[in-house]
Amino acid sequence: MTVAGVNTVFDPSAIRREFPVVTSEINGKPVVFLDSANTSQKPNVVIDAMSTFMRESYAPINRSAYTLAASATQKYEDARAAVAKFINANSTNEVVFTKNATEALNLIAYSWGRANLQRGDVVVLTHMEHHAYIVPWQMLQQERGIELRWVPLTSDFQLDLSSLPTLLAGAKVFSFTSMSNVLGTINPVEKLCAAAHGAGALAIVDACQSVPHAPTDVRALGADFAMFSSHKMCGPSGVGVLWGREELLEAMPPFLGGGNMISEVRLDGFKCAELPAKFEAGTPPITEVVGLGAAVEFLNGVGMANIRKHEIAMSNYVLEMLTSRFGDDITIHGPRNPELRGSTFSFAFRGIHPHDLSQVLDQSNVCVRAGHHCAKPLMKIIGANATARASFYLYNTTEDADALADALDSASDIF
Ligand code: ALA
Repeated sequence: MTVAGVNTVFDPSAIRREFPVVTSEINGKPVVFLDSANTSQKPNVVIDAMSTFMRESYAPINRSAYTLAASATQKYEDARAAVAKFINANSTNEVVFTKNATEALNLIAYSWGRANLQRGDVVVLTHMEHHAYIVPWQMLQQERGIELRWVPLTSDFQLDLSSLPTLLAGAKVFSFTSMSNVLGTINPVEKLCAAAHGAGALAIVDACQSVPHAPTDVRALGADFAMFSSHKMCGPSGVGVLWGREELLEAMPPFLGGGNMISEVRLDGFKCAELPAKFEAGTPPITEVVGLGAAVEFLNGVGMANIRKHEIAMSNYVLEMLTSRFGDDITIHGPRNPELRGSTFSFAFRGIHPHDLSQVLDQSNVCVRAGHHCAKPLMKIIGANATARASFYLYNTTEDADALADALDSASDIF
């Protein structure tokens, strides 16, 4: 059986052919795209779904009765149903479309946080968090005087859970990433959610780096809220997903006010719409949601378990190959066990500044991110101002990893 041109038996070369940028060239040389933790490339089915929708079906959703608008609304809601099924949500009411994952966490901190947290209440975070998972809580800390506590790291780049019971004692929230965008570390999400609940706290999961790369079952994880981005999972930018348990979303006050999120407005007040519209004020990113729906169908066709298996094999190859080629000249900041990590590798190389390194790699069309990766506190903790980061996805192969190593060799010739 084939889905969207891709055989369900995982075939990297067939997958690559579906991604125009991955198979493109610049100045006659192939592009080697190793920045998918930042944003992923898009397959033809997503590009085509968005283009076809805009050419043939584009119309407003939820507010006009004519056939074209009803059909656009249906396509938007079909995408929501596809996302709900993809993460095994209980219902489409639990899936809220936001501008991005950052907005989703801001929505939680603003709406749930302001309704439920008072001076002295405790929110537990980890040293691995992305700025989007730190700053909204710090804003609440400044405004409300909540207390932030931090789960530290072990020397092998895992969360140090030895003091977790103490940190969680009396906490209202435990908010953590499922996988570090810098270290690649995969966290034991089920265990952390259970620990949060055992302490009477909510579990909020930044799932941006895991949902695109492995099967996700929000019910099995036992989380209360989770968020992720379309653009990291083969979909377009401009749309993120907030998943939340229905009773929690139901009890929360609205976030943004405006059209679509109301059922009634009078001069003396308003009533909120039902979920999920209550949290989708204004005209949403309609075409982008349709594109996300196509991305989900594409990923289903490839198989999330296949993607995870491929990335474990890639991690194994990358770790062994870089170590055997460069020995002590390369320092990889992250776990050595491919089962405990995603295929995102932050590294230091022969003392070359990461920004210089990324510019030299670019001469070979090897695309890596360099900098603090929106995780400045973590960078300070691992003792690096910046790192270079190569991140692999379903369309990357061992040839891409070899191209990275060859380009690193040429960087050594220059510096
Ligand atoms: N979180 C994205 C990254 O790690 C932006 O690059």
